Amino acid sequence: MSLISIKNLWKEYGENIVLEKLNLEIQEGEFCTLVGPSGCGKSTFLKMILGQETPTRGTFLFEGKPFPQEPSVERGIVFQRYSVFSHLNVLENVMLGIELEKSKFLGKLFGAARKEAQKTAMEMLEAVGLASSAYKYPTELSGGMQQRLSIAQSLVKKPKVLLLDEPFGALDPGISADMHTLILDLWKKNNLTVIMVTHDLHEGFYLGTRLLVFDKVRHDPQAPDRYGAKITYDIPVGDNRKSVYKEIDKSIKREENDNEA
Ligand SMILES: Nc1ncnc2c1ncn2[C@@H]1O[C@H](COP(=O)(O)OP(=O)(O)OP(=O)(O)O)[C@@H](O)[C@H]1O
Ligand SMILES: [Mg+2]
Repeated sequence: MSLISIKNLWKEYGENIVLEKLNLEIQEGEFCTLVGPSGCGKSTFLKMILGQETPTRGTFLFEGKPFPQEPSVERGIVFQRYSVFSHLNVLENVMLGIELEKSKFLGKLFGAARKEAQKTAMEMLEAVGLASSAYKYPTELSGGMQQRLSIAQSLVKKPKVLLLDEPFGALDPGISADMHTLILDLWKKNNLTVIMVTHDLHEGFYLGTRLLVFDKVRHDPQAPDRYGAKITYDIPVGDNRKSVYKEIDKSIKREENDNEA
């Protein structure tokens, strides 16, 4: 059974047909990258997977069941975004994700539960390389570090699916290369399914096990809203990735050796 199964899906905003007739099966563990021209509906597509937007027509199944109408962490789908609170330090920002989930009304945990949350959050910060900045405040972080923090906030909820909407676009090339290594590493270690929008085709090919291109096949210059985008290419990038796997395996082994030494 596919993790996500989409059949004959349409999305319209009033007269504006954004997506038409999408069919797509996504398997657990895939890393799908999604490219396409501005305004073709990529973000809208992610929002439908999250449950923030509803399809106009068509079926949308998650693990064989219809999507609930509202976003739910229980479903294990999270949207990585900057939702960083400036008055909380790095560790508290990551803990907040756990606290909000476990204590919906107070958003706060006490005693042993709080200690446990702190431990989990710290492990997550270690995984994204931010442990030494745990007690810094968000304004003291660089762009790349803030991006790591928001990834930690998303992953601490232990999602099955991580949705990323152009996460690395604003970063310097060197830093985004580090983020690529990090996200591939986290994807592999946590058995995640990732769906990521990017405007950078190279990034799409480099990160994805599968590259999806969204585009309009029909255009009516008189009525630009009349036709929606479809998936025009669905490219398996599997082979390409072997070299990447090797690099990650090497780095995991190096880490293990370092830890043993
Ligand atoms: N809440 C909304 N109400 C009405 N129209 C919307 C809404 N959200 C998006 N749209 C329209 O849907 C279309 C697709 O928008 P979307 O943000 O999904 O595009 P995108 O592919 O993510 O673009 P970009 O690459 O620029 O981020 C656009 O025409 C946009 O104006
Ligand atoms: Mg967008």
